[in-house]
Amino acid sequence: MAIERTLIIVKPDGVQRALVGQVIARFESRGLRIAGLKLMRISRELAEDHYAEHKGKPFYEGTVRYMTSAPVVVMVLEGPDAIAAARATMGATNPLNAQPGTLRADFGLNISRNIVHGSDKPETAEREINLYFKPDELLSYERAGDAWLTE
Ligand code: TYD
Ligand code: MG
Repeated sequence: MAIERTLIIVKPDGVQRALVGQVIARFESRGLRIAGLKLMRISRELAEDHYAEHKGKPFYEGTVRYMTSAPVVVMVLEGPDAIAAARATMGATNPLNAQPGTLRADFGLNISRNIVHGSDKPETAEREINLYFKPDELLSYERAGDAWLTE
């Protein structure tokens, strides 16, 4: 199991619907460790950069407008296979296809309001973490029990 870092965003609908604590709790109780965390408003420039791979698709403009419409909570989570683990906890992109028990299934119905973002692979995670965090905003530390999780 590789120790990875992934970028997670509680999207504007998650913040507006007061779901921040529940979203963090699902990741935290699974064993992922918070390496960085902040509340922020995403600029248009940052949203365009983040979603550059989707430029030209029908949902691109709406996604950029939505992601910049209200504050979000961004975090870096760290742990064994953190990227895939977080994606599994999030569920499928379209909440209608997401397994019950995942965040997107349990907290939503609409693909364009799907609560949470998570990096999809190691290169994306590194790029996205650098978009949202400066190196000195991320902390490495041990929690009691972390070694036990990776044995
Ligand atoms: P994508 O990267 O395909 O999904 P994921 O967030 O699971 O990595 O798409 C990015 C976001 O764009 C997605 O979370 C919500 C939005 N989106 C739509 O609004 N409609 C769509 O049809 C798709 C594919 C995505
Ligand atoms: Mg994606």
